[in-house]
Amino acid sequence: MIRYFLGIETSCDETGIGIFDAEQKLMLSNALFSQVKLHEEFGGVMPEISSRSHLEKIGIVLQQALDEANITLSDIGGIGVTNRPGLFGSLLVGICFAKGLSYSNNIPIMGINHNQGHIVAALLNQENQLRNDQNYPFLCLSVSGGHTSIFLVNSPTNFELLGETLDDAAGEAFDKVAKLLNLGYPGGPIIEKLAKTVENKDFFKYPRNKDRSSLNFSFSGIKTAVLYDLVKKGIYSKDFILQTQNLTPQIQGEVASSFQWAVTEILLNKINIAIKKFPNIKSIVLVGGVACNKFITEKLNLFCLQSGITFQSPPIKFCTDNGAMIALSTYFEYLSGKNFQSLEELDLIKI
Ligand code: KG4
Ligand code: ZN
Repeated sequence: MIRYFLGIETSCDETGIGIFDAEQKLMLSNALFSQVKLHEEFGGVMPEISSRSHLEKIGIVLQQALDEANITLSDIGGIGVTNRPGLFGSLLVGICFAKGLSYSNNIPIMGINHNQGHIVAALLNQENQLRNDQNYPFLCLSVSGGHTSIFLVNSPTNFELLGETLDDAAGEAFDKVAKLLNLGYPGGPIIEKLAKTVENKDFFKYPRNKDRSSLNFSFSGIKTAVLYDLVKKGIYSKDFILQTQNLTPQIQGEVASSFQWAVTEILLNKINIAIKKFPNIKSIVLVGGVACNKFITEKLNLFCLQSGITFQSPPIKFCTDNGAMIALSTYFEYLSGKNFQSLEELDLIKI
C-alpha cells in the first residue's frame, strides 16, 4: 500500500505540487507558484511565458512541497502529473519533470486529467483533510479562466462531461470585459468589487442564452453585447478605440455589475437544466477561480436551497489550479485499481 502520493500541475498558469498522505487522509502540502503577475500586462495567459516560468519554478516548488510535508523523495510511492487538458507547452514541462523524477528515483507514475483534479478537490476541507461524508452523484461546475464545464460525478474516478463552453470560459469573459473597461488582470475580482459599488444591480440586462435543453455554455455573446453597449455609450468609438474621457467609475461599475448578473444567470440556467435531467443528484459543487466570486456563490447557494439541494464549494486554496488536487486524483486512481504507466506510455493527451 502506497502512503505518499505526489501530484504535479502545470497545465496553465500555476506551478503546483501537492503531497497526499493516504494513511492520515491528509494533504500534507500544496506548494504553488502563481504566474498571475507575469501575464498581467497581456490581460490573459501568454502560453510561451507560462511554459518558461514552469520550467524555472518547478524544482523550487517541489522542494517547498517536500519541506512542507517534512518527507524526502525516497518516501514518495506514486507520482501523478496532469497530462490533459491544458496548454501543450506548459503540460509538457510538468510531464517531462515528472518523468525525470520517476526515472531517477524509481517511483511509479501516471497521467491525470486536470478536470478530475478539480472534481476531487471538492472533497478536501479547510484543514486539508479528506472528507468522507460526500454524497453521490453530484454535479460539478468547473468554472475558471481556462474552462467552464459541467460534470455528473458518480465517484472520484467516475465522472461524465455533460456540457462545456463552446467559446470563451466564464473567467476568460470576466478578464476580457475587465480589459474592455480598462481595468486590470485578472478581471474577475476587480469586476466583483466594482459591482458592489453600485449595489450589484442589473442595469443593462445583457442578453442571456435562453436555451432550455443544452448543457453547453457560451460567453462570447455577452462580451460582444458589452462591447456594443460601450460603443453606444460613447466609451468606444465606432472603430472600437477607447474614449477614456467618457469612462467614469460609475459606468464601469454599472457595466461590471450587469455583466456579473448575466454570467450568474447563465450558470443558474444550466444548473436548472441539469437538475431536471438528473433529479437524483445530491449536491452542486462549484470549483475553479470563478468560485471565488461571493455574489455568484450566494446566488447559486440560494437557488440550491430553494431546490432542496446542497451547495458546496471547496476552500479557495483547492478551488483554483493546484498540485494537491492532482495528488488526490492519483490516490483515487490507484485505489480504484488503475495501473501506473511506463515512461513510454505516459504522454501529453491533446484534447
Ligand atoms: O482557476 P483559476 O485560478 O485558473 C485557471 O484559469 O485555470 O481561475 C482564474 C480565473 C480568471 O479568469 C479570474 O478572472 C477568475 O478565475 N476569477 C474570478 C474571481 N476570482 C478569480 N472571476 C469572477 N470573480 C472572482 N472573484
Ligand atoms: Zn483548472
